[in-house]
Amino acid sequence: MKLTKEEKAMLAGAYGEGTSLAMKVLVAIGEAYDAPYMVPVTRTHVALSNQEADLWFAERLAKGGAVCRVRPTVNPSFNWRACEEFTQLEAEDLAIVKRTHAAYTKLGAIMTYDCTPYLERNVPRFGETIAFSESSATPFVNSVYGARSNRESAQSALCSAVTGVTPYYGFLLYENRAGEVLVHVDADLQDDFDYQMLGYLTPRKTGFAVPVFEGITEPSKEALMNLGAELNTGGNVALYHIVGFTPEAPTREAAFHGKKPQKEVTITRPELDAMREELSAPGGKIDFALYGCPHFTIDQVTTIAEMVKGKTLAVPLFIMTSSLTKNLAQKMGYEETIRQAGGYIIDDTCMDQPCWKFLYGKKGITDSPKCAYYTKRRQMEFVIAPLKDSVTAALEGHY
Ligand code: F3S
Repeated sequence: MKLTKEEKAMLAGAYGEGTSLAMKVLVAIGEAYDAPYMVPVTRTHVALSNQEADLWFAERLAKGGAVCRVRPTVNPSFNWRACEEFTQLEAEDLAIVKRTHAAYTKLGAIMTYDCTPYLERNVPRFGETIAFSESSATPFVNSVYGARSNRESAQSALCSAVTGVTPYYGFLLYENRAGEVLVHVDADLQDDFDYQMLGYLTPRKTGFAVPVFEGITEPSKEALMNLGAELNTGGNVALYHIVGFTPEAPTREAAFHGKKPQKEVTITRPELDAMREELSAPGGKIDFALYGCPHFTIDQVTTIAEMVKGKTLAVPLFIMTSSLTKNLAQKMGYEETIRQAGGYIIDDTCMDQPCWKFLYGKKGITDSPKCAYYTKRRQMEFVIAPLKDSVTAALEGHY
């Protein structure tokens, strides 16, 4: 790769071992993808995870003196102070959380602990070159805003945060952003939940290609959040277009850059229903309800607060969200309402964290296939249902 004087200096260790390692990783990625050079990034988001490999890498960069030039926002960990209200945490889990916090803070990250930064704290503009990891974030910034990011890992995004650059390849190039497969949505998508199933099912038909949806009108931000999260749970899709809605697809022709689609597929209502049938555990008695994968918006919190107001939940209900949204929910009285019904709003927390150990082996309900997917390895079972239906189930204790 052709590197600038400054990039060569970073690689050679002029800014310390940590920065040198970050640049080495990016050069290796660039060479693997035949990137000719690096380009500057203006925003980064790191899918911090608390897992040992993540911590090992972050600590190694921090010990090597690396400091982020483009400070990233970060994914949720778990808010141990909030979780201690309903579960006893294990010392080794607490230790890893605190070490992760210390390492990322030392690196200069902005400790947002939120997996929907694209809605409130790290919002790019059209055409901006950025390095975002996190499965719902990358398709949102690429597709809905028209910013340019590859589907970064936590580590590659962190390397870009440290060095301020990313290899120029993939979805950073205009020509690679063309649609590839036309997806006719032949189903009346009735609510945000339908987009969960659409997202999960689409990659089965389109593979790694860039899908172009036709037949979708005015999806909500929650629907788009769901769509992106599931496109990267059921598959691997960093960019999609919606004809007449997303900025790079004012027309079908524009979405495909004037070329013919490689293939056309159709998605029908019976297929969406069958997808849900396949992903969901059977109904029956449930032990808890869990929401916020991705983190819930204030509108989603409102829906739950209004449904449980003045009632008592039959099972505990947990909502994961950003600290900004939790703060808003407190100000608006929703947190108190939910708490009185027997539910909790927890900020800064992800469902794929050890704070949920007390739910292992139990059966829950959620509106998120991604939540159900990640927790399978922890012996958690989920009925997957539309938000309102699932809250009704939490009030009754069965679905
Ligand atoms: Fe967010 Fe964790 Fe789900 S990062 S999308 S709550 S897996």
